[in-house]
Parts: sequence; C-alpha cells; structure tokens
Amino acid sequence: MGNRTFFLKPNVVIEPLIDRWYAWSHLVSPATAAMNIVGRHLKIMNSYLQAPQIHAAAIKNPKMLGGPFMDYNGSKVEDIKRLKEDTIKNRVKSIELHSAIVELDKMLKTYAKGYSLEPLYERVPNILKGYVELVYDLNNNPSYRLFESLLYKSEFYNESSQSIALWVTNNDSRPFCLSTPRLNSPEVLHLNIPFNHKGIDDLSRMKRNPDSIDRLANILGVSSDERTLFDTFFTEEQSPSYRKYEGEKARMRYFGHACILIETKDVNVLLDPVISYYGYESTVSHFSDFDLPNIIDYVIITHNHQDHILFETLLPLRHKIKNIVVPITTSGALQDPNLKLVFKNMGFQNVIEMDEMEEIKFDNITITAIPFTGEHSDLNVKAKACFHISIKEFSFLFVADSRVMEPMLYTHIHKIIGNIDVLFLGMECDGAPLSWLYGPLLTEDLARDKDQSRRLSGSDFTGGMNLIEIFKPKEVYVYAMGQEPWLEFISSIKYTEESNPIIQSNRLIQECHKRNILAERLFGEKELFYNYNN
Ligand SMILES: [Fe+2]
Repeated sequence: MGNRTFFLKPNVVIEPLIDRWYAWSHLVSPATAAMNIVGRHLKIMNSYLQAPQIHAAAIKNPKMLGGPFMDYNGSKVEDIKRLKEDTIKNRVKSIELHSAIVELDKMLKTYAKGYSLEPLYERVPNILKGYVELVYDLNNNPSYRLFESLLYKSEFYNESSQSIALWVTNNDSRPFCLSTPRLNSPEVLHLNIPFNHKGIDDLSRMKRNPDSIDRLANILGVSSDERTLFDTFFTEEQSPSYRKYEGEKARMRYFGHACILIETKDVNVLLDPVISYYGYESTVSHFSDFDLPNIIDYVIITHNHQDHILFETLLPLRHKIKNIVVPITTSGALQDPNLKLVFKNMGFQNVIEMDEMEEIKFDNITITAIPFTGEHSDLNVKAKACFHISIKEFSFLFVADSRVMEPMLYTHIHKIIGNIDVLFLGMECDGAPLSWLYGPLLTEDLARDKDQSRRLSGSDFTGGMNLIEIFKPKEVYVYAMGQEPWLEFISSIKYTEESNPIIQSNRLIQECHKRNILAERLFGEKELFYNYNN
C-alpha cells in the first residue's frame, strides 16, 4: 500500500460490545453490570439453550418485539453455549458480586429493624465489605449506597470484557440489541480493545481525514489474518464534507429521536446523540455523522436510557467532543449509576455534571438543567434532567421523556426561566414496564400488576398541554418517539395510527394549531432557523 492514504467508509459501524453484548451504560458501571450479566445475559442464554425454537418463533411475532428473545433463528446453540461458558469464566467476579448484592439486600431486610446499623457491617458479604455504606431512610427502611468510584478500581471492573465490532451497514435492520449478543460472523471484525483505547479516535477520524491503513492496523492490533477483512472497511473515495454554518441565525437540525444539533456561527450544542450513517440507501431521508461540525462544543445528555446514551454514536465522536454535560447523581443507588464515572472510564474528557437549576454560560449561550420527573418506573433515579438552552433572549426547552405529573413543578420553574420560544417534548406515553429495563436490578420479584403499573412512560396529551400553558411556546415539536427505522434495534418501537402515543401527540398538535402555535411531530429529519438577535 506504500504511502497511500484511505478514508474509513462512511457506513462502517464501530460497535462497542461488553461480553459480546451491545454496550450500554448499565453494562459499564460494575454493580449494574453484575446484575445484568446474571439477570439478563445468562438468563436469556439459558432460555435460548433450553428452547431455541421458542426464541425463533417469538422473533417472528411483532408483539414480542423488544422481548428477551435471541434473533438467531434457533440455529446458534453451539455459539451461545460457548459464549455462556466464556461469560461464566471471564465474569466470575461479577457473578459473585451479583450474589453478594442479593445477599446484602436479604441481610438488611432480615436484620435492619430500626436499630443501629453498625453491628451489621460484619454481616455484609465479604467481597462487598468496604464498598458499601449501610443507611436508613427517615422511615427506617434499610438500604445501602455503593462507593462506585472504588468499584471501578476493583476486580469488578473488567476492561478486557470490552471489545469493538467493526462491520459495514447497508440497511437499518438489526436484532433488538438488549436481547441478542453479537457472535462471530465472516463480515464482522472483533477488536479486543477497551473503550478508552486511543486507536478508536484515530480510526474515527479517518471518516474525514485519510490515513494509512497499515498504521491503523498496527495501532488497533489487527492481525495479518484479519487484514483482508479490515482493508475492506476503507476507501479512497471521499464522502461529502461538512460545511460550517456561518449564518446569522441559530440553525436547529433534528437527526432523529431526541438528537438535535443547535448551531450558531460561533458555537454548537448536540443533544442526546443518536445518529444514523451516511452511505447506504434509506427509506427515510436523514442527517448523518457527516452533518456534524468538526468540533462539537457541548454534548448534552438528558437521561440514562439506552436510546439517549448511544455509545455507538458517542465513541466515534469522542475525538471531536470538547465538553460533555451529564445530569449529576451521587446517590450510590444501584439503579442510578454515576454518568460522569461511566464516561470518564470510557475515555471521555471534560465531563461536566449539572444539578437541577444549575447554569453553564459560554459565548451568548446559557444552558440550564431543569428537573426531569417520571419515566423511570418510580425508582429513585437522579441522573436525569431537561435542558433549557437560551441564545441571548431566544430559548429552547428540551424535556426529552420527562413525564409531567405535577404541573406546579413547572409553574415554579417558569417563575425562574420565564416563557420559552420552542418546546421539544417526548410523548412516548405507553412506555415499557419496570422489569423491561430495571428487572435485572431487582433482588425480589415484583408482582406482575405492580410491574405493569410502573412504566417508563413519557408525557401524554394532558401533561404536554400543561407545559404549553405554562411556558407559552410559539412552536412545539414532539420528538424522541423512537420511530425512525435506525432506532428500532434499540427502542423496539413500532407505532401504528392506533397507538396511544400517536393518538395523544396528534391531539396535542391539533390543539396547538387551534391556538395558533406551530406544532409538528418530528420524524427523520428537520431543519429550522431562528433569529436570536431581536
Ligand atoms: Fe427515556
């Protein structure tokens, strides 16, 4: 190849995996990882090994979309057997941690009766000793908080379980990623490198800046056997380059789901990055990573759900992200992993935590974190925030999946931030039950009717109208509906006109039109310009 340089093909996926499962935040943080390895991965693998044909049938049933079924047509029994054995061998410490957490909960329920917790420290399972503080709430309910930062430095955090799968995508169809691990296949190259490996940045840069394939193969540890496949990921053809926005207005671009880029000629902010690829035919026109600036000033994360923190999008952008803003949590609660620690351990720099009503100011932009309620099955999760972004006097409010349950909250907030110009509101109001996402964290069964009543639901018509009446926006966009085809593998959502979130959001849009408010449910892509100078 000599001195020739190449681009990484635009539709190469740099897919982060943990134990060969699609990486998401709960697989990074050591305690939630332990719970998911046992309560999700091993459970699904065991179920597949017992009855692969049941999985094959369930996958064909659209009602089972997003269920705990592996999309392998029942034909991968040997591979799954091997993956299960590898998991048990490589993750022995995490599996022990899972047992210890279950035991700790049981111990507290048995012995913590309102008296001092100090004598109970000796009953804490040995491997958890020094990693927990035992606490009561004011009603004498016992619990514990984890020292998460110490767990990341312990034998329970295992970077060698991380890897990157490289492959070329030509369409949006993929199995639901929380239920199907990625096995070996001829077109996929697995790199056994941790997520904080600098080579991921070098590789990602090559989508725009050509480099030598030999150099990259060297950095990433690609073996000579793997070179033939590795070389197919590169091309000499340059993809369209990004033209920096130089206009006088603020440009808003919707990339799908909750991903929005706000740009002025001076700065840019990218919310909840979930971005599709350039370089293959899609039925829905969309922006891609080629429509992102070369430097992203602020990435903002609203909450810790897998469709709002997509490492597959974020890792390849790491080299161009100047700052990443996350909602703060220091609770140490199992269900509420600290996002700063997640990102830091994945090699992100400048991770900024924001608490409710805190502000960041730069140039003429002010970012304010606003309380986010609901959508977490009534679990005490603090790592969630809505964001108010103002450019001079012009303001956007992004409420993501926050479910408006008590309008007075927003009346209080309105007193501080005033009216807004543009509202972005998620209305996925028929969310999954608690167990779908948090089930592996429970150490005791939750009755089915209780599980069904505690959902991951965003705002409905009434909640949305409350916000509109309080903040009096001139424009309202329903977003974060998980409907774009490239979202399906992560959101497992397929709506019809009869689906409640569609009915509720249609009603909201009609009501806005009646009141002369511009309103639309976003899908695919959208570009709007706002004059912030008046
Ligand atoms: Fe969510």
